Amino acid sequence: MWSTRSLGGPCGRPTSAVVGHTIGSAKLIGARPRPCAQLRSLSRPTATPETPPHPQQRLHPRCLPIHPEINAVIYSEDVIEARVAEMGRLIGQDYQHTELLVLGVLKGAFMFTTDLVRHIYPYPASLEVDFFKASSYGSGTTSSGVVQLDSAFKLESVAGKHVLLVEDIIDSGNTFSRLVAVMREAGAATVRVAALLDKKARRRVPFEADYTGFECPDEFIVGYGIDYAEKYRNLPYIGSVREEFIRH
Ligand code: IMP
Ligand code: MG
Repeated sequence: MWSTRSLGGPCGRPTSAVVGHTIGSAKLIGARPRPCAQLRSLSRPTATPETPPHPQQRLHPRCLPIHPEINAVIYSEDVIEARVAEMGRLIGQDYQHTELLVLGVLKGAFMFTTDLVRHIYPYPASLEVDFFKASSYGSGTTSSGVVQLDSAFKLESVAGKHVLLVEDIIDSGNTFSRLVAVMREAGAATVRVAALLDKKARRRVPFEADYTGFECPDEFIVGYGIDYAEKYRNLPYIGSVREEFIRH
C-alpha cells in the first residue's frame, strides 16, 4: 500500500507571517529564511553603509542578484534545493521496488521536475520521465477555471504505470483534481502528486498532494519555473512581483 506523506515540516512557513529582511529594494521573507551566502552578506550591516555592494555584484556563481521587478524572495535557492532533495528521498523510499513514470506538468514544473528526479533515491526499479502541457492561467493572475491538456501527449502511455505527477503550485485544486481523474481514466495503476507549493488557503476543490514542498502564502509568486505572463521562469528563487509590474 502507498503511504501518504506531506512535507509540511521544518522548511514550511506560516502562510501569513512575513518576516522582512531588506536586501536593497527587495525583502527576503519567510519563517525560517536561509538566504544563500550572497543574500546573507547583502543583508548584514556593513562597515561602510554609504557604499553598499553593487546590485550586479556576484559573490557566488549560483546566486544571482535579485531581479529588479521582484518585491521579495520567499524561498531562496538554498531553501528550495534542500526541500526538493528531501522530497526526492521520500519519493525514492516509497517507489524503491516499483517502476515509476514521473510526469512533469509544463511549463511551471519544468525546473522542479528536473531537480526532483535527480534526488529520487533509493532508485525505483525503473524511472521514466515525461512532460505534458496543462494550462489553467492566461496572462492574468487568477485561474481561468478551465484546464487545457496538451493534445500531443499520448495518454495511453500511462496505462498500467505508477504515475507521479509533478506540479509547481496547487491553488484552487481545479487543475489537479482534473488531471488525477484523467490519469486514472487512462488506466494508470496508481497516481500520486508531488507539488512544490501548496496555496491551501485558496482551495475551491478538495485536493491534497501526496508530497508537498511548502505551504505557500496567498500571493502571486514567480520564479523557479513559475511565471507571470511568461516572465520570471528563469529565476533560481521564488518570489513575489512588485505591484507596479502586475497588470490588473
Ligand atoms: P489551480 O487549478 O487553481 O490549482 O491552478 C494551479 C496552477 O495555477 C498552477 O499550476 C500554476 O500554473 C498556476 N498558479 C497558481 N498560483 C500561481 C502563482 O502564484 N503564480 C503563478 N502561477 C500560479
Ligand atoms: Mg502549473
